[in-house]
Amino acid sequence: MTDSKKALIVGASRGIGLGVVDVLAKRGWQVTATTRGDAPAKSPASVEWIKLDINQSAAREAAKDALSAQRFDLIFVNAGVFGPDHQDIDRATDDEIVQLLLTNAVSPVRTAAKFLPLLNHRSGVLALMTSELSSLNENEVATYPLYSASKATLNMLARGLLEATEKQELTLLSIHPGWVKTDMGGENATLTVEESATGIVDQFDAYRGKGGHHFVDYAGRKLRW
Ligand SMILES: NC(=O)c1ccc[n+]([C@@H]2O[C@H](COP(=O)([O-])OP(=O)(O)OC[C@H]3O[C@@H](n4cnc5c(N)ncnc54)[C@H](OP(=O)(O)O)[C@@H]3O)[C@@H](O)[C@H]2O)c1
Repeated sequence: MTDSKKALIVGASRGIGLGVVDVLAKRGWQVTATTRGDAPAKSPASVEWIKLDINQSAAREAAKDALSAQRFDLIFVNAGVFGPDHQDIDRATDDEIVQLLLTNAVSPVRTAAKFLPLLNHRSGVLALMTSELSSLNENEVATYPLYSASKATLNMLARGLLEATEKQELTLLSIHPGWVKTDMGGENATLTVEESATGIVDQFDAYRGKGGHHFVDYAGRKLRW
């Protein structure tokens, strides 16, 4: 245990979020993580779990109150959903589209804005989990259009946090995890959770103190918006 920095990981019950919790805990960070259900059985023992559905404003408020005495070096909003498998804008119901945009774009940024005062000035990193599919430059043929549009919306709403993060001299990251073997990424994905999570945590370290808003992947590759 060489490092006692503190992290808050939002949406960490499984997949990449839980992987990032594992990597941080192994590196000696004190980790608080959120889940909608019970704490995951595979959680490192040192992790503190709190309940949060990011779509519930009362739950965001309660989580902020519960954490108000703490200060973090990293807040990472990882929670996300894929939306309807068919990804067809004509077949998707209005409710499916609203839920997708709420969960992937509006609620992550509302959550980040709510918790932002809990970040340590200057050294703090505020990160949101996006996807390279969000980018008109990287995703020229609109692969998975509904999901990708929700992450594009996330990127722009995250940019709206820049004034506030600059006031606190924080670094704002929009991060792409690679294609990862999770419930969302599927078995054919190219990366294990451990590979992606290790790279993501390396980027949190690399960008600490830089300021600004950066769009990077788990391996440190700069992506075009
Ligand atoms: N896997 C990939 O290849 C890939 C690629 C690019 C980007 N991403 C992004 O990476 C993030 C993690 O993806 P993953 O592959 O690890 O997916 P996953 O295994 O499906 O995990 C999604 C996580 O988000 C949580 N979540 C969903 N809705 C939530 C809500 N309303 N409130 C709180 N938590 C919520 C889930 O909690 P529950 O267990 O309660 O459902 C779960 O912990 C997502 O933002 C995803 O879009 C993934």
